[in-house]
Parts: sequence; C-alpha cells; structure tokens
Amino acid sequence: MAKLKGLLLAGGTGSRLRPLTYTGAKQLIPVANRPILFYAVDAIVSAGVEEIGVIIGDTGNEVRTALGDGSEFGCRFTYIPQSQPLGLAHAVKTARPFLGTSPFLMFLGDNLLRGGLSRLANRFSEGGFAASILLTEVKDPTQFGVAVVQEGRVVRLVEKPKSPPSNLALVGAYCFGPMIHEAIDQLQPSWRNEYEITDAIQALIDQHLAVDATLVEGWWKDTGRPEDVLEANRLVLEDIQSQVDGLVDEASQLEGRVIVGPGAEVHRSTIRGPVSIASGARVQDSYIGPYTSIGQSVLISHTEIENSVVLPDSKIVEVNGRIDQSLIGRGVTVSGVQSRPRAVHLILGDQSRIDL
Ligand code: TTP
Repeated sequence: MAKLKGLLLAGGTGSRLRPLTYTGAKQLIPVANRPILFYAVDAIVSAGVEEIGVIIGDTGNEVRTALGDGSEFGCRFTYIPQSQPLGLAHAVKTARPFLGTSPFLMFLGDNLLRGGLSRLANRFSEGGFAASILLTEVKDPTQFGVAVVQEGRVVRLVEKPKSPPSNLALVGAYCFGPMIHEAIDQLQPSWRNEYEITDAIQALIDQHLAVDATLVEGWWKDTGRPEDVLEANRLVLEDIQSQVDGLVDEASQLEGRVIVGPGAEVHRSTIRGPVSIASGARVQDSYIGPYTSIGQSVLISHTEIENSVVLPDSKIVEVNGRIDQSLIGRGVTVSGVQSRPRAVHLILGDQSRIDL
C-alpha cells in the first residue's frame, strides 16, 4: 500500500477555551510545559508518517512559528490555510491538493492519545479498509460522534445523537483511503452547519465499504475545555521523570517527581510532584502542589498553588489561600491583598490582571 500522509488539524475557533483563545491557538496551550500540538505531531511521526499537512485558521502564523518546517520533529510540514472552520470534512476537502490519491492519517491537533497512533495506522495499512477509526467508551455519548459496531466493523455513525445508539465515541484519529474524497464531495452541511466527517464515513458504509474500528488503549483526552486542559496536564505529568537542571536552594524541598528546567530557580519553597517548572521560572517562599505546570519565566512568590497550569511570563505574588484547578494565560499578573484565606479557582486569559 502507498505510504500514509498525515493531516493534522490545527484550525478551528476554540470558542470553548475563551478567553485563552482570544489571543492564541488552543492547540499551542502547553501541558507539562509543551504545546498540546507537539504531542500530536509526535504521535503521527511515531506512526511512520513523514509528510504532514497542517490545517491552519486564524491562528496560522502562530502555529507555523511554533512548528517550523518539521525538521525538529523528523517530518516535513505543508501548511494548508482553511478559509473558515466549516468542519472536519471541509478540512479534508481543503487539503485535497496536498493529499492527492494517498491514503492518510488524520489527527485533531487538540487531542492527546497516550497509546499513540501506530496501532491504528498498522491496522489500516494491513487490512485494506476504506477507513479505520478509533473509539472509546464515554459516559455521555450525546456530546460525541457515536458508532455502532458489529464484529469489528462500523455499521452506523451518528454525530452528537440525542438518543445515542451506543456509548462508543469517535476519538479524533482516523485513517482514510482516497474514496473518502468522493464521499465528502456529496455531503450537505449538518444542522450545526458543518461538513461532518461522520457523515462522510457513513457514506462509505452505505456503499458497503469496510470501515474498521478498534478501541483506544490507554487514555484519550480532547482538550476542548479548560477542565480538559487541566486533566490533560495531570495525565501527562503522571508520566514524567525527575530532572533538575535549574537551581534549588537548601531551604527548599522537592518531593516526588519534579522537573526544574535550565535557568529556573527555587528558593525557600516546597514542591510536591508531579510538577514541571519550565526554564527561567522563579519560585520563592511558595508551595507548588501536585499536577502543576509552571511556564517559562513565570514568577511565583509567597503563594500556594496546585492542580494548575500557568502559561509563560505570568506573575503570581502573595496570594492568600490556595490557587487550585486554575488555568492562567500568558503575561498575567495575580497579586494578593490582605483578605481571609480561601481557595480560588481561576481561568484567566493572556495579559489579565487580578488583585485578590
Ligand atoms: P473542535 O474542537 O471540534 O472545534 P473548535 O476548535 O472550533 O472549538 P470550539 O468548539 O471550542 O469552538 O475541533 C477539533 C480540532 O480540529 C481542533 O484542533 C480544531 C480543528 N478544526 C479545524 O482545523 N478545522 C475545522 O473546520 C474544525 C471544525 C476544527
């Protein structure tokens, strides 16, 4: 079979991640101090793909700057601007000149899959299917594309069903043969005015073509909402190993697995891992609790924080109580004033300023 190309979707509007996505691409929000999109690229490259088309939208320049030409990831990127985020099938249509008649592996740039994409790519390449998809059991199927499977083959797909026919949701990873393009050409927009990839796959099934499905191994996370980003951060931090390249003074304590990046400094503080502190950050007279990522050049002073993600260049100073389950944008300033101790929960866009 011809070699798989890759299609990485990094457009979209990211409305559910506002205010953070007013100023930046949602796929570039870091978890464990690395953009979500980079994990997606790694997954595609590890599946043996070298040519990757990257769908970009309004945040295209930022995505190009972050990803470069691909040499750092061991692949080649072709950037493909999408006029508007009109759906996953529309993204495939936009990429058709790049894809030609090649089979391809498509992955959503805001999705994380611990088990990677190799098993999906291998099944597809060896099985001679029109499409292969990955599924996972979910509690509330009404929020997802849902599949009905019989003997390993998909027999029906419905996008965000009101009465779900199963609890098996499509995760954002798909392999397609070139027949998908004809199916997409026949599509009508859905009730939410998008060209749905699920409708295109259903069209393959209607033509009696074989659509293969397997269940995800390990966790899968779609990072569409702030709480998902925090959960993704938690899941990725679960897997880190300790590495201290920065300075930790004798009055500080590191417990569990902690990364302290080059040029980062920790003074008179307790860090309870898993925690990632990026290069150039400074933590002083503070407590950093489990499942927290502190971004590059961030200052944390006289503050307690846990289960949180702080993006680069922010300052959190003298906050009373404990910051918990918070996602804090770039260049934010949070400073405390005298007040009663309490827990605070914050979702702050880039350049915010807040006095507590
Ligand atoms: P979604 O999360 O479905 O859409 P979105 O990014 O517009 O977010 P929201 O619903 O919060 O407004 O998109 C999944 C991924 O696919 C994401 O990485 C963006 C990308 N995408 C495109 O590149 N083009 C598109 O037309 C769509 C719909 C999504």
